Amino acid sequence: MDSILVRGGRRLAGRIPISGAKNACLALMPAALLTDDPLTLTNAPRLSDIRTMRQLLESLGCEVASLQAGGVLVIGAQEIANHTADYDIVRKMRASILVLGPMLARDGHAVVSLPGGCAIGARPVDLHLMGLERLGATLELRDGYVHASAPSGLRGGVVDFPMVSVGATENLLMAATLARGTTVLRNAAREPEIVDLARCLRAMGAQIAGEGTETIEIEGVARLHGATHPVVADRIELGTYMLAPAIAGGEVELVGGRRELVAAFADKLEEAGVSVEETAEGVKVSRHNGRILPVDVETAPYPGFPTDLQAQMMALLTLADGVSRLEERIFENRFMHAPELTRMGARIEVHGGAATVTGVERLKGAPVMATDLRASVSLILAGLGAEGETRVARVYHLDRGYERVEEKLSACGAEIERVTERAA
Ligand code: UD1
Repeated sequence: MDSILVRGGRRLAGRIPISGAKNACLALMPAALLTDDPLTLTNAPRLSDIRTMRQLLESLGCEVASLQAGGVLVIGAQEIANHTADYDIVRKMRASILVLGPMLARDGHAVVSLPGGCAIGARPVDLHLMGLERLGATLELRDGYVHASAPSGLRGGVVDFPMVSVGATENLLMAATLARGTTVLRNAAREPEIVDLARCLRAMGAQIAGEGTETIEIEGVARLHGATHPVVADRIELGTYMLAPAIAGGEVELVGGRRELVAAFADKLEEAGVSVEETAEGVKVSRHNGRILPVDVETAPYPGFPTDLQAQMMALLTLADGVSRLEERIFENRFMHAPELTRMGARIEVHGGAATVTGVERLKGAPVMATDLRASVSLILAGLGAEGETRVARVYHLDRGYERVEEKLSACGAEIERVTERAA
């Protein structure tokens, strides 16, 4: 099993290219199920989660070709040969539930395994199911699977989400493109990944208005066609690498990033005393002297502070000159990185959904273990600013969401390498 070894204390200087967004790509790929023409996605990230989605689509009968070493995906769903998304794939990745809406909309039936437990809280899919029922689907839960049917097709309706859900908004947005009549999604998610999906669907012939606001209106069409769509830049990767020079010191330009994708996060970074500057090619982040200032952070749906950057932000605040408070409002159990950061000398107290971080002057390298994707990268960031060596074990979590992390960071002067340990 691979580990990542970081020797801290190196200032960073250089440029890091930002990849296409994992979470956008995971919603765009199932959109291919809506048409019998091929859908081409450019700027796709090369990540294990993307390979899992590819495997799932292939299991449904799609043909997927990857060109330019995985940067371009051509997905053809001429016919959906199998309408069952099997537990063995779905359990690996929750985003698998996103094949439900498209399959149901196109062929009037679909069977998808329930995603099951997840390390960061209960994470149910009730909102996805409630929304599809509003569009006329009949659902039955049997043997851990959702059996969905709409023999004469879905019909438009009003879906009023009781809470904001990125995945449920995506599932419903896709399903509604082929439903008869008008669908209105209220209290819809506004994340850039939703906007990207709506743009792609529109390029495929869908009629959509209001994406990026809390009300999205979709006028169903009889059929969609193929398109070519570039995946939006990954705002979570962007924010993560913005923290690298903030923690280690130095100056790094994030090429292809845009401040507006992470505005609430960038504001907090500046409040902590880090400089964020827009450039012709992206965003430049620098920190030269002095301690980080403490800040309070509360996660919220977009345009608020993203939950997917909370762990990484905590790594920065462990080094602040004072006390910071982080409140996690999207997921339960999302502080698994806290005890690991504590092993590196951080002072963190967690009470329910909030963490109090009392900054220390220096972290010390230690062997630590990653428990989820964002937690693992927060430990790498902490390692960049720590004295000595940090070994982050179980990095398969990292490979789900970060492309070539060690290459991108070492190109800026970080001492970081991947080590493969063979089982004895
Ligand atoms: C997506 C992102 C994930 C990010 C999250 C929140 C992908 C592949 N993943 O996950 O990285 O952390 O948005 O920004 O895009 N909920 C329900 N019932 C549902 C659905 C969700 O109660 O049917 C709850 C969840 O438990 C959670 C909250 O709603 O507390 C938000 O979840 P949601 O926005 O749906 O997250 P995902 O789409 O799963």
